[in-house]
Amino acid sequence: MTTPRLITVDGPAGAGKGTLARRLAAHFGFAHLDTGKLYRAVGLGTLAAGGDPAEPGDAIAAARALDPASIARGGLENPELAGDTAASAASKVAAIPEVREVLLSFQRDFAQTPPDDAKGAVLDGRDTGTIVCPDAPVKFFITASAEERATRRHKELLDRGETSIYPRVLTDMKERDVRDSTRAIAPLRAADDARTIDTSEMDADAVFAAALLFIAERTD
Ligand code: C5P
Repeated sequence: MTTPRLITVDGPAGAGKGTLARRLAAHFGFAHLDTGKLYRAVGLGTLAAGGDPAEPGDAIAAARALDPASIARGGLENPELAGDTAASAASKVAAIPEVREVLLSFQRDFAQTPPDDAKGAVLDGRDTGTIVCPDAPVKFFITASAEERATRRHKELLDRGETSIYPRVLTDMKERDVRDSTRAIAPLRAADDARTIDTSEMDADAVFAAALLFIAERTD
């Protein structure tokens, strides 16, 4: 059995796609790219330069300022990237076509030539199976209800010792869903050939097991 060397994992925030992508990458010895962090880095970069993430000129300048070499060497580890300020700025810059264009070649290079001589790559995000790597042999779309995703996010924030108000988290989640699914360019949707997994009632182990089963079916 040959393992496919490219796997994409897309879906809305908080559905568990990052967890699945990391586990698949570790399991197969593949490199992992969390593409959301690229958009978050552009969002934070825009703010750091005193710009407005919704303003194309400001966001495009921040996207062009990202250094692909330093990103490939692990430059996306800044903890600030995980915060809600970065998330909200990311979903604004992500609606600007030129920003997506700048980030596209980096993502495709990573998929075609994964760093550190890895045998393959796992990309997770919103459009990795539809736009970035439409020919990927294995694609997942990981989803869950907005309420469940907000509950998980709320718990994660409280566990980290941050303050969190559930109704606010739910509203933010829904706003980001609407922005991501209704934008004109690369809207969030499942690729036609993606395996959709609804994780509302599943834990991470069950999702991982379901994903491995699908990969085995694909490669037999
Ligand atoms: O996945 P994460 O929450 O880190 O993504 C932050 C934002 O970046 C998303 O809300 C989305 O607007 C944008 N994004 C995107 N395309 C991707 C990954 C993320 O538009 N492939």
